[in-house]
Amino acid sequence: MQRRHLEYVVIAGMMLTGGYVLLSGLLAHLFGFPQFLLHHWAGYACAALVIFHLFLNWRRIRSYLLALRRRPTRAATPPASPASQPRSGLSRRGFLIGALAGLSGFLLGRFFPASRPPAEGDLGLQYHRWSMPGGSGLAGLRLDWGLRPPAVKAYPQAPRISLPAPRLPRADVWDVIAARRSRREYLSGPLPLEDLSALLYAAQGITEPRWGFRAAPSAGALYPIETYVAVHDVAGLEPGLYHYAVADHALELVRMGDLRASLVVAGIGQEMLGLAQVCFLLTALFQRTRWRYRERTYRYILLEAGHIGQNIYLAATGLGLGACAVGAFLDDPINDLLGVDGEEEAVLYLVTVGRVAA
Ligand SMILES: Cc1cc2nc3c(=O)[nH]c(=O)nc-3n(C[C@H](O)[C@H](O)[C@H](O)COP(=O)(O)O)c2cc1C
Repeated sequence: MQRRHLEYVVIAGMMLTGGYVLLSGLLAHLFGFPQFLLHHWAGYACAALVIFHLFLNWRRIRSYLLALRRRPTRAATPPASPASQPRSGLSRRGFLIGALAGLSGFLLGRFFPASRPPAEGDLGLQYHRWSMPGGSGLAGLRLDWGLRPPAVKAYPQAPRISLPAPRLPRADVWDVIAARRSRREYLSGPLPLEDLSALLYAAQGITEPRWGFRAAPSAGALYPIETYVAVHDVAGLEPGLYHYAVADHALELVRMGDLRASLVVAGIGQEMLGLAQVCFLLTALFQRTRWRYRERTYRYILLEAGHIGQNIYLAATGLGLGACAVGAFLDDPINDLLGVDGEEEAVLYLVTVGRVAA
């Protein structure tokens, strides 16, 4: 390839990778994503191309810097001959300005932390303060917090699948805690139904039948979290969306079908959502907690989803499976997939579980 063509390719590469970094950074910032597909790699590629570009143009840069040192006066400058006319394309000055701007952007981003939003603009912080005892004051007391809704959700028309007794291998709790990792690569092949039964039991199973207490704690034992499972590959189950009927340790088939592609798209391209044998989807029915705990509701509900998520993680580890929490997803498509309105009931948290290499 001719040198000139190589330079064009490098410039095109810089524009593409730089543009992608800018766009993905903007989208991540606007939507609050913790990461964006290939953002970092595009940044590294752009930096490598800039260095290569500097290398290719080193002689031009050097002679420009030397000419700057000599500082010829305008009057003393002889008229430019056609041979010394600047070549069409990027001028040295333009190139230097671009390179300096890129470098200073990189240094600024790297060494100076992003400015913190003022507390007044941070709704989360405002909510945190408002939900402190006394924080909501009279305004909170004037609100209508509503009535107590039904304690459990049911799909009376849905086909029911009784779950077998869970497979509960003996495992040392300390070993399981130490071995727990987020695993995102899964082997193919079905998950035994007994394992899914054990995972659901760990998530929300009833462990104290007399009082209906469950495996994970809940503020006031109100249990606002509903557990759904997207089944991709489980022995004896059709792929589809199921709801966990806690009281009977059974599954209700909400919808049959292959949900892998929809989950990956709604999960912003996170492929593990389609590779795992199952994906747990935790939703909250806010009113179950709100009628009693009022302004503290949102705090409690998020904490409870975290408890359940950790139970799934630990149970998966104890069963020799891998799990990964997923907080980065587009809410509306997942709520649509579940058939919930996103107001009374909304998705909070996903956890994938699948077979992993030992
Ligand atoms: C609230 C929450 C949200 C998370 N969201 C994602 C996610 O969207 N995608 C992902 O790959 N990992 C996600 N994770 C997993 C973390 O990346 C992981 O826990 C972290 O890298 C530490 O690794 P470890 O779990 O193996 O200790 C999430 C974890 C938590 C607690």
